[in-house]
Amino acid sequence: MQEYFSVTGNGPINGTVTVSGAKNAALPLLIAGLLTEERCTFKNVPNIHDVHLLLQLLAHSGSIVEREGSLIHISTPKIVSVEASYSLVKALRASFWVLAPLLARAGKAKVALPGGDSIGARPVDLHLEGLEKMGARIQVVHGVVDADAPNGLNGAQINLRFTSVGATHQLLLAAALAKGRTVISGAAKEPEVVALGEMLRGMGLEIKGHGSDEIEIIGRESLSGTDVTVIGDRIEAGTYAMIAASTRGHIEIKGFDPKHLGSFLDVMKEIGLEITINDNGIVVKASSNLKPVNLTTEVFPGFATDLQAVTMAALTTIEGESSIREEIFEGRFGHVAELSRMGAKIAIQDHTAIISGGSKLSGAPVSGLDIRAAAALVVAALAAEGETKIFEPYHLFRGYDGLDLKLVSLGANAKITMENPEEHLFSGC
Ligand code: EPZ
Repeated sequence: MQEYFSVTGNGPINGTVTVSGAKNAALPLLIAGLLTEERCTFKNVPNIHDVHLLLQLLAHSGSIVEREGSLIHISTPKIVSVEASYSLVKALRASFWVLAPLLARAGKAKVALPGGDSIGARPVDLHLEGLEKMGARIQVVHGVVDADAPNGLNGAQINLRFTSVGATHQLLLAAALAKGRTVISGAAKEPEVVALGEMLRGMGLEIKGHGSDEIEIIGRESLSGTDVTVIGDRIEAGTYAMIAASTRGHIEIKGFDPKHLGSFLDVMKEIGLEITINDNGIVVKASSNLKPVNLTTEVFPGFATDLQAVTMAALTTIEGESSIREEIFEGRFGHVAELSRMGAKIAIQDHTAIISGGSKLSGAPVSGLDIRAAAALVVAALAAEGETKIFEPYHLFRGYDGLDLKLVSLGANAKITMENPEEHLFSGC
């Protein structure tokens, strides 16, 4: 049987939902566990496919992984393999970040290049240039990064030519066990980078400036174990907010820090959503009188690219012309063709999508091409007339913990036909 996620719009979505730990924070934090021989404990880890894949890679590298629901313990007394294969890195791009800890702990690493994917070319030149500056010798042979640093890495002044979340993670991980002082200028300021900085501090590292564009680290010979709670998922939260918008519903979204939404909060207000900000989340209430908006994706605290697709889906339901300019990933408009199959009117000009909103969407067979594109189809499907079948639904389970159950608890008519998302291998974020 071909698997799909079936969603049938049945009016406003109302209720309360609690988001899980953030995928994009959990992944670098779990990888940081490789930096120490001691045991690290992670709470609030989302039960998602990307985490399962990463745990397999960590176990392959020598980590002892114990898991009880959202609680994970990892100890890595010894690195037993310094290799990360193409199949794993392609299935989970974030696994490329094991390069620095393997290099720092074992003096060498062989990690496949992740390659491009459905949202863009996604090179890793900044990662490699930074590691070379810290003394790593790097060759790229047959698509594999073959790196060594037999005498360890050295602290360095690294100026990132432009902001990259992944390069900032990679270089923080490298600097933690490097000799001396590293300064990363032009660093990413995303909450997930701050979370990694805090974890490293909890492991005994001297670090300051995470959350600003200059981070200073004094490396240590060894780090201790730590206990860390993964921050709530701001992108999952934003997705439920856009479900409230598209269905003209009223949703309380709990379990995350509203400051992590950055200017997404301002955009929601500009659209005309009524927002109440609490300590641990927000309440989003949509009237029938919402307004179009023009926005551009930017690095934090600007409008997050990971919320672009779900926001576009909501804007297709709002009368008038909206525009979205995508500045982070050149190929991140895969959802446009699928939304159009549901009756949305969207034109792409260069990096900008022009959305002529307001016509009623209708359920259709569509395909999720990446995690956020698939989420956008859910946002649209909940507002559409009739059933939408979202094929390739496993993208959703890469990053949305319990999506089907959470939607049903909010009163949505949603059902997954997929029995075992784990059996699917695909390339991803
Ligand atoms: C992270 O990807 C996230 N992934 C992405 O989330 C997110 O969209 C992105 O940051 C931006 O916020 C994870 O955290 C696992 P970048 P990352 O390096 O680190 C270019 C999702 O939906 N670049 O900040 O890969 C790159 O091509 C995902 O959850 C280089 O040119 O993003 C892009 O255009 C998808 N050279 C831009 O920089 C480099 O060496 C920003 O990428 C590195 C990046």
